[in-house]
Amino acid sequence: MQINLESLALRYQNGEVFVLDQQLLPLEEKWLACHTIDDMCDMIKALKVRGAPLIGIAAVFSLMQFVEQGATVAEVKAAAIKLVATRPTAVNLKNYMDTILQQLTTDPDVVLQIGQALFHEDVELCENIANHGANLISGDATIMTYCNTGSLATAGVGTALGVIKRAYLQQNVKHVYACETRPLLQGGRLTAWELSKANIPHTLICDNMAAMVMAQGKINGILVGADRIAKNGDTANKIGTYSLAVLAKHHGIPFYVVAPYTTLDPKCASGKEIEIELRNADEVKGALGKITWAPTQSEVYNPSFDVTPAELISGFILDVGVFAPKYLSECGALC
Ligand code: MRU
Repeated sequence: MQINLESLALRYQNGEVFVLDQQLLPLEEKWLACHTIDDMCDMIKALKVRGAPLIGIAAVFSLMQFVEQGATVAEVKAAAIKLVATRPTAVNLKNYMDTILQQLTTDPDVVLQIGQALFHEDVELCENIANHGANLISGDATIMTYCNTGSLATAGVGTALGVIKRAYLQQNVKHVYACETRPLLQGGRLTAWELSKANIPHTLICDNMAAMVMAQGKINGILVGADRIAKNGDTANKIGTYSLAVLAKHHGIPFYVVAPYTTLDPKCASGKEIEIELRNADEVKGALGKITWAPTQSEVYNPSFDVTPAELISGFILDVGVFAPKYLSECGALC
């Protein structure tokens, strides 16, 4: 069977998997070949492929490749468990691996069917999210966003950035403020790159400039993505999201979380149960492995995500519609 699937940052071509190295963007556009499950685990851990939905799809592609290489059902199961362990906070990865494990019969080839369906589904979920979200935005809005939630983070148009792009095309967004997103600069490198490619007028700011920009009355709404949404609406997303939500509340700015159902975790009652990934000190002591500025003996704390309490969230833009936090359970994916 010839399988060809392609998104902006991920490709499956006749049993070969390729990843656009997001650590090199935007300076270099380099595709990396992934040959083994271990290759994919390393690429996910190093954030060469990133964004909650896309790491799930990348892991799925890796399992498909493994099957095409002749892996047995037992080997596929062991590989899925290994892939889940690479990044603990983004629940899409676990959800996708669970979907495959639940449907695995005695024939490993079912992974090829399931994998293709999951890829196409993510594209469609992004489309639905973009349409629901864009309906919320009117006038000449200026939107602030965080991290990268676009086509580099999903198989499709994106989540929060997908909404922004759709609303821009409908002439309801006039400008975007992108926060740089320390320590790995997904906003400064990746969101700025996507906005530039889409010719969307934007301003890049350091994360500590967000309060001032809000106080100056420049922002009409804030849209962010999610890595895991608990049953009560508490939301884990890139570290710094919580600060933006607090600032938004203070300044009376609507703050929306944008995600597909694959980011919802019905097994997680509240944010307290969400495991937060802790990453290497080097990411804080310098920048992208290229320069170091902190003394070697300085201690570092580097949580990759934080949890925004549901009470700070104005609403959830999901693939099935827009929900206020108190009605989130009605979205159908939290049972
Ligand atoms: O560490 P990253 O770059 O994978 O973190 C990404 C985010 O936090 C995104 O906001 C989230 O995954 C949603 S992407 C549609």
